[in-house]
Amino acid sequence: MKGIILAGGSGTRLAPSTTSINKHLLAVYDKPMIYYPLSVLMLAGIREIMIISTAEDKNRFEDLLGNGSAFGLSLTYREQQEPNGIPEAFIIAEDFIGKDDVTLILGDNIFYGQGFTPLLRKAIKNHQHATVFGYRVKDPERFGVVEFDDNQNVVSLEEKPEQPKSDFAVTGLYMYDHNAPRLAKKLKFSKRGELEITDLNKEYLKRGHLSVELLGRGFAWMDAGTHEALFEASEFVKITQQRQGFKIASIEEIAYYMGYMTKEALYQKGKALEKNDYGRYLLDIATREHSKQYWDGQDHSPMLEVLK
Ligand code: TTP
Repeated sequence: MKGIILAGGSGTRLAPSTTSINKHLLAVYDKPMIYYPLSVLMLAGIREIMIISTAEDKNRFEDLLGNGSAFGLSLTYREQQEPNGIPEAFIIAEDFIGKDDVTLILGDNIFYGQGFTPLLRKAIKNHQHATVFGYRVKDPERFGVVEFDDNQNVVSLEEKPEQPKSDFAVTGLYMYDHNAPRLAKKLKFSKRGELEITDLNKEYLKRGHLSVELLGRGFAWMDAGTHEALFEASEFVKITQQRQGFKIASIEEIAYYMGYMTKEALYQKGKALEKNDYGRYLLDIATREHSKQYWDGQDHSPMLEVLK
């Protein structure tokens, strides 16, 4: 399974904060926004990841994350010339995907909740053609809405429907087989001038190839695309972290517990950032002995075995 983080777009709703910098480099509380989707792909066990961003910002992402080797990842970077829509990512990344399956996550989406890692693992294990992740929202008319039967077979998909057939929004996390680039090329631009991810999902649905995984009420799913949403996401991260003492989406911590980063490398990274809380957090992990259960209260050892 390969991974793509889509971090282009125009970020107009966050202007003027995004006038001279890409939205996904802005901070969500104490770390850049892109750390959050990157952490999701890492928890899923995906290590070959392409970051697609705008031409102006590609180098900035590279400055931030490098080739990924520091976190046990292989990161590559590509440009999207214009914000032509989410499915364009598969056309841009066609050679990268090759014959593999691919998980795409939107760069401004934040997922957090107990049991997320096993859920991702299960989704990858069960994944056949296309899998979307549904999340109950109180305003489904603002989203792509998925209707499904008792066996979680998708019955219908509608983009921003006036009369939603369910309360479940399609989140910005998608898994596809290697046909995604071919199907994306067939899509037509919508009235708003974009290739629509809902249209790609409908192509899979037409073939009976779309399934949905549901994120339960214990999950938080947010996007950080407006000032209000960005502020709320920062607040959520701050409060959760302060209460528990765990950081959300620390890619170094995840890399360490996944066995991708040595204790020494974690220590050095912490040392380099020692003046702030993020660095001290890494130092604390590197200098204390705790079990994998301590990490997030779940036993990840079977997963870590699988991922070896
Ligand atoms: P949006 O929030 O729909 O668009 P945007 O980021 O351009 O922001 P705005 O509406 O304020 O102008 O995009 C959702 C996510 O998908 C976001 O992380 C950016 C990314 N994206 C791309 O990278 N390329 C695209 O062509 C589109 C449409 C979105």
